[in-house]
Amino acid sequence: MRKPLVAGNWKMNGTNASNRQLLDDILTSIDDFADIDVAIFPPAVYIHQVREALKGTGIHWGTQNVSSYLEGPYTGEVSAAMINDFNCEYTLIGHSERRCLYDELNLDQLVLDQLLAEKYETAASSGLTPIICIGESPQEHDQGQTEEVVVRLLDTLIAHQGAKALSRTLLAYEPVWAIGTGKSASPEWAQNVHQFMRERVAKHDRKTAENLRILYGGSVKGNNAASLFSKSDIDGGLIGGASLIADEFVNICQAAAQHI
Ligand code: PGA
Repeated sequence: MRKPLVAGNWKMNGTNASNRQLLDDILTSIDDFADIDVAIFPPAVYIHQVREALKGTGIHWGTQNVSSYLEGPYTGEVSAAMINDFNCEYTLIGHSERRCLYDELNLDQLVLDQLLAEKYETAASSGLTPIICIGESPQEHDQGQTEEVVVRLLDTLIAHQGAKALSRTLLAYEPVWAIGTGKSASPEWAQNVHQFMRERVAKHDRKTAENLRILYGGSVKGNNAASLFSKSDIDGGLIGGASLIADEFVNICQAAAQHI
């Protein structure tokens, strides 16, 4: 059985004061997460604050990005070893906002997928659990290229690492047209893509595919989480906007706990 994960990606939001309030509110109202995993992804400068607030609570934390380099002259980057210093369990890799805003202008898609595979290798070999984000742009969606986009990154990862290596990772299907738009993918659409991803991995390694947790991300809220999580191949969510509102985030965690 796959344990659901609800991951709150704060993106570039928060201050010391607002984070403290949000974490307090989450911790006072969350009570039903023994059977699910919950994790918070604050901006890197607040990892220390989040660790201090969450240690001993059972909630994990992680970073929104990791460098593909181990150390050196890479201004502004954060390495896997630094992330480990703060007891992070997870790191996101390849979130579409990073791809679009920072990489896509300079890199062609295959080189970008390669870079993500390198980040994956660095993170996994440091003991972090990578959550690799995959999803089609609005244009790719309109042109019916979802499966092509998903396969390209999955195949690059498998070519780099072998399918077994995916047993140390999670995938997140995040259609770019659904992120921050309020327009979530339907549970049926998301289920089909998740199933397709799992079958693609199963072609290489059936057991790894069966155990692989695949999260859905894109406008998940308290009122649509239950229908998404009720689908058999959706193993939790990567939550952006709604993770900044304690009640919403707790409702999403409860929806995940009801669908184990
Ligand atoms: P959203 O973001 O929930 O605000 O759509 C999801 C994400 O970007 O991970």
